[in-house]
Amino acid sequence: MVQRGRLQRVWLWGVLLLSGCALDGPQSIFKTAGPVAEQQSDLLIYIFWFGMLVAVAVTAVLAYTIVTYRQRGDDDGSVPEQIHGVAWLEAIWTAAPAVILVLIGIPTVALIFRLDGRIEPTQEDLVVNVTGYQWWWQFEYPQLGITTANELHIPTGRRVVFNLNSGDVLHSFWVPRLAGKVDLIPNQANQLWFQADEPGLFYGQCAELCLGAHAYMRFRVIASSDGEFDTWTASFQEGAAQQVQAQPNAEQIASGEALFKTKGCASCHAIAGYAEGQKGPDLTNFGVRTSLAAGVLANTPENLAKWLRDPQAVKPGNYMPTLWADDDPKREDEISALVAYLESLGQQEERSASVQAGR
Ligand code: CUA
Repeated sequence: MVQRGRLQRVWLWGVLLLSGCALDGPQSIFKTAGPVAEQQSDLLIYIFWFGMLVAVAVTAVLAYTIVTYRQRGDDDGSVPEQIHGVAWLEAIWTAAPAVILVLIGIPTVALIFRLDGRIEPTQEDLVVNVTGYQWWWQFEYPQLGITTANELHIPTGRRVVFNLNSGDVLHSFWVPRLAGKVDLIPNQANQLWFQADEPGLFYGQCAELCLGAHAYMRFRVIASSDGEFDTWTASFQEGAAQQVQAQPNAEQIASGEALFKTKGCASCHAIAGYAEGQKGPDLTNFGVRTSLAAGVLANTPENLAKWLRDPQAVKPGNYMPTLWADDDPKREDEISALVAYLESLGQQEERSASVQAGR
């Protein structure tokens, strides 16, 4: 029975290990969705085959040597005749690595220059200033006057130029299907650009250990056609206030709005035209987001309530305070009001459509 349990565990680990190797997973660098990732992936595959060539050649020589010169039964144990200086062999193992290095080096250096992030954005490019914080992302669109967090909306077929900065420690900005990773370093402006060819949802991830909730420092890139991107943009420029009036639960929303200030939310979070906190994610148009807590949960009223009730249970280590004691009799009512208010921010129709797309 013990044997069988061990066998099952080996199986389980084998399956788990192999399941990490899917070539077309949601964060696979091989399932490219834009020109930058595609060229990087092509280069990687090209280099891979040289690596295979070396591996096969070395393994073949090793196997030949092991078999040919193995110790035999009639061996008298004496040291064989020692030789050195076989010119043609030495020429091969000196020249071959040099040739391989040149064949790998030229396309690598050429691609580094071709994809150089340090570019002057043109009028057609979309510029996004990315700031990494423990453990969420701020996305600022200087051309559009929009600031948002954790969900990056981009139009397809257009170059997006990123200025990367950190507000605290080192982070790394990585959307595997769109481009390789680039570090975010305090006081050191890094750049990166990529482009999405087709509409879609792409998962991003912080790729530099930044303590605490590093593994939960996710983000989403939502690439859409120009028309949909313009709708998203416009939803930031229209005032959210009139829409709130039209909600059936306007009263609850209004009390949530008041709580947002009295509970101290506004000292950390910004909402355009209403609050200016800078410590936590900007919540302007929060209702149109598909996820919350930097991509950890789908943005539903139930999940938002769960998050407000006990943020540490959802995302251990994060800086969001727990606002209510367990026995606070007003807790559930206040959470419901805040949820109603936050979910009302932005366009309702767009929200339900994009939440479905994000699942
Ligand atoms: Cu930010 Cu890891």
